[in-house]
Amino acid sequence: MRPRITVIGCGYLGATHAACMAELGFDVLGLDVDHDKVAALQEARPPFYEPGLEPILRKHVESGRLRFTTSYDEVAEFGDVHFLCVATPQRDGELGADLRFVDSAIASLAPLLQRPCVVLGKSTVPVGTAERLTEDLARMAPVGRDAVLAWNPEFLREGFAVDDTLRPGRLVFGLPEGYGRDAADQAMRVVYAEAIAAGTPVVVADLATAQLAKAAANSFLATKISFINAMAEICEATGGDVTVLADAIGHDPRIGRQFLNAGLGFGGGCLPKDIRGFMARAGEVGAGDALTFLREVDAINQRRRSRVVDVAAELVDRPWPVANVAVLGAAFKPDSDDIRDSPALNVAGRISLFGAHVTVHDPQAISNARKLWPTLHYADSVIDACRGAHVVLVLTEWSHFREIDPVVLAEVVATRAVVDGRNCLDREAWRAAGWTYRALGRP
Ligand code: UDX
Repeated sequence: MRPRITVIGCGYLGATHAACMAELGFDVLGLDVDHDKVAALQEARPPFYEPGLEPILRKHVESGRLRFTTSYDEVAEFGDVHFLCVATPQRDGELGADLRFVDSAIASLAPLLQRPCVVLGKSTVPVGTAERLTEDLARMAPVGRDAVLAWNPEFLREGFAVDDTLRPGRLVFGLPEGYGRDAADQAMRVVYAEAIAAGTPVVVADLATAQLAKAAANSFLATKISFINAMAEICEATGGDVTVLADAIGHDPRIGRQFLNAGLGFGGGCLPKDIRGFMARAGEVGAGDALTFLREVDAINQRRRSRVVDVAAELVDRPWPVANVAVLGAAFKPDSDDIRDSPALNVAGRISLFGAHVTVHDPQAISNARKLWPTLHYADSVIDACRGAHVVLVLTEWSHFREIDPVVLAEVVATRAVVDGRNCLDREAWRAAGWTYRALGRP
């Protein structure tokens, strides 16, 4: 029989996971403690922008295969497999992860578990958390050790979340030792049967390794980005071109071209907080020295933001308090409305604190940005954002921005000056249209 699935926590990860599990043919119940979010999802309205999510959400909400609730009683009653997808943000003022949502999810669910089930952790947690939650479950659940906990880290990328969930690049099954191991393994093999049949590699691991897999993967990706951004700094000092350098080294399959796009650096809800959380946890387990390099990865990344502000200051032909600045991009990356630790908004905010009149346009993220930075100005189109601008900053590489016609845009700005913070524009075309073009790591 097909297991019935619940998804606890319906943010970027959980809502997508719930819709995709329904798409794979399972009956799914999603839970969130936020009533507004549950109401929106139950009306098939995703509470965030993610390409391809709305149609499958609608299809399965309408068919009744996918439902949402705020009730843990319902979840405990319904589910054979419970996915734990709650957020683990960075703790205020500290490096480590805030586990309060994970802990409260388990504390709410466990006392209601009357029959055998498998709880699969997907949230990114410090290594050691799964072991602790296993003990919590055994202690709090009426069914005791028959509520089995395993770890199944998630590697999805925002903007590709539906595809990454339906067709994952790999699956990691973090299994407990001894009792419950077979039940957990079996549950994941049934849930992911379609992907496994299609040849997706499965890596079977212990709980510790499974939790580490996510932190290690994101640390590697962050390191790759900061490496190429460090090369951009060298290029700036020597006259090299980092985009050509990335091609030159990226053709070596041992290096690979992906994640070598230099520019404003990484942001979002994962990479920055995950490397910091990993450093904090390494310190706690006495292995802090192993990850001191991540401090430098973080520092290089932060320097990129300052560098864009400096380049903009060099380009703008007047003091900030009398300058109009157009910022194209607010989301931390294209095809997302996510502004968590967004490099683009960070730069926009800094320049506005210097007194400039900053107008931001983003195809999806304006309403989120407005809540965080109400003092910035917002425009619904590229043209409106750039009208009267003394400098234009392109800070998120939406395809829409790549297609801007620099000849047309030149008509509305006060000064033809552009900073390409993502190396995404056609430099020659902009220069040919009379713009002063500056980019990071390129002459
Ligand atoms: C990341 C991981 O890729 C994913 O596997 C994990 O599950 C969650 O964290 P995501 O945060 O959605 O996913 O975005 P990603 O595509 O990895 O980009 C992260 C940041 O790095 C963005 O700000 C992006 O603009 C930046 N980036 C990415 C670069 O600056 N250069 C690159 O070459 C690639």
